Amino acid sequence: MEIDESIINLINTNITGFKLLGVGSSLRKNSSSNKMLKMVLEKAQRYGANTSMIELREINLPIFNPNKLKEISEDIKKINDQIIKADGFILATPDYHGSMSGGLKNFLDYYWYEFSGKIFGYIVSSHEKGLTVMDHMRTTIRQCYGWSLPYGLSINTEYDLDEYHNINNPKLLLRIENMSRDIVIYGKLLRMQFIYDTNNKVSTTFAFQFKQ
Ligand SMILES: Cc1cc2nc3c(=O)[nH]c(=O)nc-3n(C[C@H](O)[C@H](O)[C@H](O)COP(=O)(O)O)c2cc1C
Repeated sequence: MEIDESIINLINTNITGFKLLGVGSSLRKNSSSNKMLKMVLEKAQRYGANTSMIELREINLPIFNPNKLKEISEDIKKINDQIIKADGFILATPDYHGSMSGGLKNFLDYYWYEFSGKIFGYIVSSHEKGLTVMDHMRTTIRQCYGWSLPYGLSINTEYDLDEYHNINNPKLLLRIENMSRDIVIYGKLLRMQFIYDTNNKVSTTFAFQFKQ
């Protein structure tokens, strides 16, 4: 495969301000997964991302009930706009019984269409690498037609932090750099193509069924 320079120029000039939304789902005050999410979001700004974060501990999200969608809470109305406008997401969760937190699953149950064609990165705080947790998030997002980065970030608070609770594992620090960059760079490419395909109603792509 050869690189077409004109495409690269298009990417760099036509899409600015990639909106990256972090969703922190631990309700713990000093959550390590939320802390790492904040780090990644901050670093992603260096690659041109406009970042914001929703902390589920701060919003009142009732258990999703399809029969009560009309009685949707004020808090959900507040975050809806952020979800719709986001170009990419990072989901952060503690490992609860080898899966994502109930809070995160409940949040994801409210949406699907809004996730389609967008990129997702995953952060897990776990004592066991959190691989099954990542798999569960990946599966959920696949069902919503979202793309997943091919790796995730897993923090083990027993080994990855120094005495001041700062991350001191060099391998993890490198992965944090990787994700901050990759989610923006690959996310832009995927988003641009998806917007093009939906706007131009390209019938041979999965994007055909979605509207912008
Ligand atoms: C209900 C519950 C279930 C948990 N299950 C697991 C588990 O299966 N595997 C694991 O490694 N840690 C498990 N943990 C520990 C948390 O994943 C761990 O403390 C994590 O670092 C918390 O993340 P946070 O700092 O973002 O809140 C569990 C904790 C709770 C409260």
